[in-house]
Amino acid sequence: MEFLTTAGNPARQRTGCVIVGIYRGNRLSQPAITLDKAAKGLIKRIVRRGDVTGKLGETMLIADAPGIAGDRILLVGCGNKKEFGAKQYRIATMAAVNTLSKTGTREAISYISAESLNRQNPESITRHGVEAVLYATYGESNRKLKTDGARTNLKKLTFGFIDKTDAKTSVKGVRIGNAIADGVRLTRDLGNLPANICTPSYLATEARKLARNRKSVNVKVLNEAEMKRNGMGALLAVTSGSNEPAKLIVIRYKGAAAKQPPIALIGKGITFDSGGISLKPAPNLDEMKFDMCGAASVLGTFLAAIRLRLPLNLVGIIPACENMPGGTATKPGDVIKSMSGQTIEILNTDAEGRLILCDALTYARKFKPAAVIDIATLTGACVIALGIHLTGLMSRDDDFAESLLRAGREAEDLAWRMPIAEEYATQLKSRFADFANVGGREGGAVTAACFLSKFTKGVTWAHLDIAGTAWRSGAKKGSTGRPVPLLVQYLLSKV
Ligand code: BES
Ligand code: MN
Ligand code: ZN
Repeated sequence: MEFLTTAGNPARQRTGCVIVGIYRGNRLSQPAITLDKAAKGLIKRIVRRGDVTGKLGETMLIADAPGIAGDRILLVGCGNKKEFGAKQYRIATMAAVNTLSKTGTREAISYISAESLNRQNPESITRHGVEAVLYATYGESNRKLKTDGARTNLKKLTFGFIDKTDAKTSVKGVRIGNAIADGVRLTRDLGNLPANICTPSYLATEARKLARNRKSVNVKVLNEAEMKRNGMGALLAVTSGSNEPAKLIVIRYKGAAAKQPPIALIGKGITFDSGGISLKPAPNLDEMKFDMCGAASVLGTFLAAIRLRLPLNLVGIIPACENMPGGTATKPGDVIKSMSGQTIEILNTDAEGRLILCDALTYARKFKPAAVIDIATLTGACVIALGIHLTGLMSRDDDFAESLLRAGREAEDLAWRMPIAEEYATQLKSRFADFANVGGREGGAVTAACFLSKFTKGVTWAHLDIAGTAWRSGAKKGSTGRPVPLLVQYLLSKV
């Protein structure tokens, strides 16, 4: 889909559809008032009859309005004017596109944007607009998987402004929105693929694709023999029950001088989590194909960074394997040695994410990163604590945590901080190793983060638990592409 920006009178735009907002309490937005005047009171009459109330996300299509150059008008409910921000703007824009998708409209101009200037700058409006439209029209992916995305005839959407300079400055937002949406789409596609296709080797191939024909990107993939040579006993313990070869994918993006330390992104890449010998129950077990969404979000974030040519250095580290039961699988009670030298008693083989991540975190030190963020569908406990709307964030560093939370707010991809206090670490005590890989039911998301913190001493590090936010269950089951928007926003804040 093509996105443009323009300035001018909405009544004079020759287009398939002019989209304008209506607020709660029968309040017409400024562009709606302009259209209403040109159409001799048509919109006010509709509103007065109660056919449109301004409820957020409601839509009404009007064809061939007199005095209007466009073929159609689409009225879109924007909710209370006072509450109208980026989130509401995205909902209204998605509703508009979903309604237009049911029509033959090929191009449209949205003036919903022009109205929210009191709350948002034009750049942020187009950026959220592009993201929302591409999210709503995420349809059949190029891999021919069925999803719930709306099919649409819409080929071109223009963001209309009254003011010329607004239209100009908003062009940058289109670029950012497109880049983030590309990253989100890649992450969703990879997440939605079944585990028999999206194997560790498949993820490695996807990483290599990002490096193809690009001098700024290179990929190195460690096989199991190389992991062994590096002493990655924790990662190897997880893959030991699987016939599918494990991969440690290292992707580097160089957008700045070589001496500038990179930001490291580490993504959990369990392509299927059966639980191992601590086998999970059967219901919804198919959803454990999504256990590589952290890995997918790293690749999606790289794609966005590449598209934006960010002047930063990045390193992505993706430990990828399956967690399976079998004759060679790790058994509860097994003691293994991690790359850090610390020994771990594996009391529950289903707490495997922290095991692959701990060796990846140790490996990351090699790159002397300025900051490390790991992204993982790590614990069911995080879903119990925070639900499916906000990502869990743990970090010992208050400033770092706040900058990530802020990025989440700006990107409309929220996270919430959880504690990581030393007291919780006592739950990981073991009689047979330096510590155990599980800490009991209480505070399960926090004890998982405490486990990881044992491998990040002296490092500026944050952990994002996306178990609740990376995918949706139920009728609209599928990957969400989160937290790519948060991560890209954080990177943008660094340039
Ligand atoms: N991949 C799961 C976490 C998960 C569970 C994500 C449900 C989304 C929905 C992880 O590997 C896991 O199994 N965690 C265990 C940890 C426990 C054994 C300490 C869990 O959350 O039950
Ligand atoms: Mn598990
Ligand atoms: Zn898992």
